[in-house]
Amino acid sequence: MRILSGIQPSGTPHLGNYFGMMKPAIELQERGEAFYFIADLHALTTVRDAELLRKNVRNLALDFLACGLDPARAVFFRQSDVPEVTELAWILSTLTPMGLLERCHSFKDKMARGLPATHGLFSYPVLMAADILLYDSDLVPVGRDQKQHLEVTRDIATKMNEIYGEVFKLPEPCIREDAAVVPGVDGGKMSKSYDNTIEMFMEEKALRKKIMGIKTDSTPVEAPKSVEGSVILDLYKLVAAPEEVSRMVEEFNIGGTGYGDFKKRLFESVKSHFEPFRRKREELMADPGYVDKILAEGAERARDTAEKTIGRVRKAVGLR
Ligand code: ADP
Ligand code: TRP
Repeated sequence: MRILSGIQPSGTPHLGNYFGMMKPAIELQERGEAFYFIADLHALTTVRDAELLRKNVRNLALDFLACGLDPARAVFFRQSDVPEVTELAWILSTLTPMGLLERCHSFKDKMARGLPATHGLFSYPVLMAADILLYDSDLVPVGRDQKQHLEVTRDIATKMNEIYGEVFKLPEPCIREDAAVVPGVDGGKMSKSYDNTIEMFMEEKALRKKIMGIKTDSTPVEAPKSVEGSVILDLYKLVAAPEEVSRMVEEFNIGGTGYGDFKKRLFESVKSHFEPFRRKREELMADPGYVDKILAEGAERARDTAEKTIGRVRKAVGLR
C-alpha cells in the first residue's frame, strides 16, 4: 500500500500542523510504503521571498525528521525536485472542468481573506491531484480541510480514465474524523493565518508567554470552571498523560484553582512533550549536510516512480 501526503513550507509549523498532519503521517509510515513531501511549488502561491522559502523548506524538513519521520522507511522529498509533477498537472488541467475548481472552499476562503486571485491559487487542486496520481497513491492522510481537494483528485482521475482507459487508480482519503481541530490561543482554529499559534519548537520564554496569554473567561479562582470548550484543557489532552488530564478535569469541576495554575501545568507539559524532539533536532542540525542528503535521496527514489507514471500518461494521451 502506498501512503502519500504533503505539507506546505509556508511558515513555522505549530501544534495544529503537528497533531493534525505530521503525527498521523509519522504513525502511518509503519503501515505501508510512505511518500511524504514538502510542497514548495504549492507554497509559491503565498511565499514571495526566495530565501524565506528555502529556509522554511529546510526547517520543516528538520522538524519532520526530529519528530520521527524515518527516512529509511518513508521516501521524504521536496516536491519541486520531481519536475514531472508540473507536466502531469498541465495534462490534468486540460480536462479539469472550471466549475470543479470554482466550487473549492479553500480558493473561496482565500479570496474572502483578500489574497490576490492568481491562477496558481485557483489551480492549486490540480497540482495537488498531480502529486497524488503521479505516485499511484492508495491512501492520502490529510486534515479535514483537505477533503474537498481529494474529491477533486478522484473526479479528475475518473475523467482521465473515462477518456483514455485505466490510467490511474483512485486514491482513498484517510481523514481522521475523530481528530479534533487544535484550537489556537484565542479559541479559534489554530492557524498561521490567524496569529494564534503555538509553534512546536518555540524558545522557552516565548512559549511560556504564549501559553500564559491563552484567552480565558473571568471565573474567579474559587469557582468551578467550565470544561466545555476550554482551550487549556483541549491542548492539555494532546500533551499530558490521561491521569493528569483526569486530575485537571476534576480540579476544573471543583474550583479552587486559577487559570494561571492550569496554564503553568500546560506549559510544562508542552515543553516536556517536545523535549526529546527538540534534542533530536539539535543533533540533526549539528550535521549541516544531513537534510540535503536525505531530501536528495528521497527525490531520487520518488523520481523512479514518477518517471514510470509520466511515461504511462504520455503514451495514453498521445505525447511522444
Ligand atoms: P495553516 O492553517 O496554519 O495555514 P495548513 O493549512 O498549512 O495550516 O495545514 C497543514 C496541515 O496541518 C493540514 O493537513 C491541516 O489539515 C493541518 N492543520 C492545520 N491547522 C490545524 C489545526 N488547527 N488542527 C488540526 N489540523 C490542522
Ligand atoms: N494542500 C495540502 C495542505 O495545504 C498540502 C498538499 C499538497 C498535499 N499536495 C498534497 C497533501 C498531496 C496531500 C497530498 O495542507
